[in-house]
Amino acid sequence: MNNPVADKWNRIYASASAASNPAAVLSENLFLLPQTGTALDLASGLGANALLLAKQGLTTQAWDISAVALFKLQQQADAEALAIKTFTREISTQSFSPNCFDVIVVSRFLDRSICDAIMVCLKMGGLLFYQTYTQHKKIELGPKNPRFLLAENELLSLFSLLKLVYYRENSAIGEIQQGLRNEALFIGQKV
Ligand SMILES: C[S@@+](CC[C@H](N)C(=O)[O-])C[C@H]1O[C@@H](n2cnc3c(N)ncnc32)[C@H](O)[C@@H]1O
Repeated sequence: MNNPVADKWNRIYASASAASNPAAVLSENLFLLPQTGTALDLASGLGANALLLAKQGLTTQAWDISAVALFKLQQQADAEALAIKTFTREISTQSFSPNCFDVIVVSRFLDRSICDAIMVCLKMGGLLFYQTYTQHKKIELGPKNPRFLLAENELLSLFSLLKLVYYRENSAIGEIQQGLRNEALFIGQKV
């Protein structure tokens, strides 16, 4: 693939070893997952979320533009005999088909143009777990371009068609040394 975004991420992942921690919105709410079904880790990178989803018994896909990241993820999944299939693709509205997944997880990736397609791609009763960076950051971490940063409560409006299950955005309220300051966390259900 001759694509500057893919090249950039392939360079980053070339020197990365293993997947880091899964997103808190998923790891702290595992009890919400169905016992069986299909899951998608969207823009998975090295696939920490995909690995966790597969360990929970879900048949999991991981999509990302970086072939390097997905090669490493597929190797780890195969070594651990986990049901993960990786797909190298530039994600766009065309990537999604209706009613495909019981669970979709998106962490640290934001493309507002695909939000409706994500909801269409969820099965009825399916859950979306979303966590990414906000504009009001307390620590210099993550992207600087506002295109990739959430406005206040933005996940609530982007996914307003889903039933709200969970939302957390600590912003700058209270003791800022504690809490989750740089990101918003959302779980919604398609009903
Ligand atoms: C900040 S990383 C997050 C990775 C992972 N979700 C996590 O939380 O660790 C953003 C990911 O989005 C992927 N990405 C960026 N633009 C993309 C696109 N247009 N299509 C598919 N993947 C893309 C990158 O390759 C990278 O793995």
